[in-house]
Amino acid sequence: MLKKTLISAIALAGGTAAFTGQAQAADLTISCGAVGAELQLCQEGVAAWEAKTGHEVDIVSTPNSSTERLSLYQQILSAQSSDIDVMQIDVVWPGLLGNHLLDLNETLGEEAAAGHFDAIISNNTVDGRLVAMPWFTDAGVLYYRKDLLEKHGFAPPETWQEMTDIAAAIQAAEREAGDKMWGYVFQGRAYEGLTCNALEWVASHGGGTIVDAEGEITIDNERAAAALDLAATWIGDISPNGVLNYTEEEARGVFQTGNAVFMRNWPYAWSLAQSEESEVAGKVGVVKLPHGPDGESAATLGGWNLAVSKYSENPELAADLVAFLTGEAEQKRRAIEGAYNPTLAALYEDEEVLAAVPFFGTLYATFTNAVARPSAPTGDNYGRVSNGFFNAVHNVLSGNQSGAEAVSQLDSELSRIKRRRW
Ligand code: GLC
Repeated sequence: MLKKTLISAIALAGGTAAFTGQAQAADLTISCGAVGAELQLCQEGVAAWEAKTGHEVDIVSTPNSSTERLSLYQQILSAQSSDIDVMQIDVVWPGLLGNHLLDLNETLGEEAAAGHFDAIISNNTVDGRLVAMPWFTDAGVLYYRKDLLEKHGFAPPETWQEMTDIAAAIQAAEREAGDKMWGYVFQGRAYEGLTCNALEWVASHGGGTIVDAEGEITIDNERAAAALDLAATWIGDISPNGVLNYTEEEARGVFQTGNAVFMRNWPYAWSLAQSEESEVAGKVGVVKLPHGPDGESAATLGGWNLAVSKYSENPELAADLVAFLTGEAEQKRRAIEGAYNPTLAALYEDEEVLAAVPFFGTLYATFTNAVARPSAPTGDNYGRVSNGFFNAVHNVLSGNQSGAEAVSQLDSELSRIKRRRW
């Protein structure tokens, strides 16, 4: 049964979650994301486990914004509610939620994580406890319209400045022909996705990662400021003003209906852009993101894991579902059907996977060298650090502050949060 605590937590989180399972006495409840084809893929995977084991599972879909999902989970877990057994958790949350999650090495054995990328396993290990199994990894990539770049005589951009110039030129030419074209769409809403985009701008200008691996606050520097100032010039010029409220799906909507030259997004957008419903199927290329004048391309490391709540009444069964969904067969299916990056290195050599998503091969280094958000050094404070960062960036994009003012003010704010140590 779905109990009151969960329902009130969802109401508090803005009422955006929906129940898709039958609210009857199922054996387990899992919460899945619902971005793009995510929910459908989760339903299919769960159905396969149900058929194999004879158990019944309810599926709860959660808000698309990672920031909103986190507050929902924090409410459910701090109430010690047993309503959700298996939770899909973001790669930046193990430190924030780890105390409420089961050690999967205890339930699934010491070899549970064999074959998965080491960096994700160490990210998911909190105080020696494996609090989540890797499900898929993510890194930001640049989508572009192959047909339009070719038509107007451009190669994919290497630097942000080239991207800006090409976007402006193609946008102007296509609009003359009567199209409502935009140059660049990305995730500009004040939420976790903007932290990911802006970290890419800053890191690829050589401006660091907000807080470094030792916990030093590094954001107040000229390169970071310059990166944000360049991004601010995009708004209302090559990017619609509405981008200030875009998450992944709004950006994909504009690109997939043929109304943008470039898009920053995660790999999942590939399968949908190539699908029958897409206006741009067959016209899309994917390359690594551009870089600043003296920097190197940087892709923010994203990804999602499956964890079992400590308050589950069926922890062993829940862990079995997690092992099944994160296992090789499911990861392969999700890679082929949804372009979800496997966390098992071997699948990047699988011919069927590479045929479905060729850039899993060409951009392999982008995925394995992606830049982490500073969730490990800032621990419990990561949520506040990210909130401070995306609000500061949003201010610059909105024209309320210069890059230099924003990074200096953010430095003071982060110092107050940190005090002597994180
Ligand atoms: C993607 C990433 C996740 C990130 C989120 C931000 O879902 O996988 O790590 O936090 O986007 O919007």
